[in-house]
Amino acid sequence: MGDVAATAAARPVQIDPVPRVSIQAFCESPEVAAFVSAAVSDRRMAKAHVKQNTGGALAAVEAYKNAPTPNVILLEAPAEREALLAHLDELSHSCDAGTKVIVLGRTNDILLYRELMSRGVSDYLVPPFEVVDLVRAVSHLFRAPGVKPLGRLIAVVGARGGVGASTVAHNLAWALSSATEMATIIADFDLAFGTAGLNYNQDPPQGIAEAVFAPERVDGVLVDRLLSKCGEHLNLLAAPATLDRVVDLTETSFESLLDALRASTPWAVLDLPHVWTSWARRTLIAADEIVLVAGPDLASLRNAKNLLDHVKIPRQNDHPPRLVLNGVGMLKRPEIAIADFAKTVEVEPVAVIPHDPKLFGAAANNGQMIAEIEGKGKIAEMFADLATRIAGRPEARKKKGFLDPLIASISFLRS
Ligand SMILES: Nc1ncnc2c1ncn2[C@@H]1O[C@H](COP(=O)(O)OP(=O)(O)OP(=O)(O)O)[C@@H](O)[C@H]1O
Ligand SMILES: [Mg+2]
Repeated sequence: MGDVAATAAARPVQIDPVPRVSIQAFCESPEVAAFVSAAVSDRRMAKAHVKQNTGGALAAVEAYKNAPTPNVILLEAPAEREALLAHLDELSHSCDAGTKVIVLGRTNDILLYRELMSRGVSDYLVPPFEVVDLVRAVSHLFRAPGVKPLGRLIAVVGARGGVGASTVAHNLAWALSSATEMATIIADFDLAFGTAGLNYNQDPPQGIAEAVFAPERVDGVLVDRLLSKCGEHLNLLAAPATLDRVVDLTETSFESLLDALRASTPWAVLDLPHVWTSWARRTLIAADEIVLVAGPDLASLRNAKNLLDHVKIPRQNDHPPRLVLNGVGMLKRPEIAIADFAKTVEVEPVAVIPHDPKLFGAAANNGQMIAEIEGKGKIAEMFADLATRIAGRPEARKKKGFLDPLIASISFLRS
């Protein structure tokens, strides 16, 4: 194993910092654990969220049977080759899309290397281990030219004003960050009137406006400065929500911010206001996922249909927008039946959230999420389920993990 200082001095290296990813290591021997610790303390790993575990590859298999997988899993290979392959095959059954695996091997074995690559393993390091090699391997997963951007942007938009789009966006971001245990940003795009700060009980001095009004300065470092922490894995990019200056944005005003978000963080939920401007349209079409929030009323129905039709062609190779019907079942209010709504827009809602002024009112007044007030309640469960679907976690995982091994290994290979 290399001496850290000596290695760095002998070989100055250019390695890009690792973005805000989650990494879990499963080592067997104290030597390899110490090697991983040394790599983790490198400055380029400062933003990564790292957890070290013992028990090697077998422990990883057990750990992820019912838990989400991180962005990167580091595995120390067991002594027997067959055991490593068997553990990897088993692990592939519970790996979420996007999870990368690096194996810390024992011997420089080209046949094993090929076997591992064909199973979708991203890298295979062998002794003598050098800290810089592990840092480079992890950085390379996210920073190499041509690598798919790390982050996914989830745009949440209302079919009409006041329908609860922001409420859904904030609760979804919360649920995503806890379901995946990955860094998540909730970005409030409603510069003048946004409520994300209020809903998370935060009043940060800086936020999204700084990025939007100086797009040429936007990079990962600036975005980091503008975030305020509002959950274990959740950060807020708040709107200034003042009327001091009018906001006339251009089509590309958010472009550099969106790029910076994609490059730095696994999940960003965009709380879009109900407007139809060039930038709003562009952001919606550019997002990786769309969540469309509508109410059981005629205006929602017409607008939802128009929006769904509008994005159909430019997003024909994406998952269709996910429809959330919110505020359903308000006492004495005539409503469009859910089945009729779904039939007209030709999309089944992924969630039908009841009108619950007591619960949502308490959440809004206290600056809390629904899951903080009623963690085990039906509505918190709906947000968790929506997050799980968006994260691409197979439904079966929730029911103690039976999964078609073929499908699982395909998604593992794709990662
Ligand atoms: N299911 C619900 N039951 C009761 N009240 C709700 C529900 N969903 C949201 N609300 C309340 O409705 C109000 C409007 O919600 P929100 O600000 O999320 O709407 P919006 O669509 O983002 O509005 P805007 O068009 O202003 O951006 C809030 O006070 C919120 O607490
Ligand atoms: Mg809103």
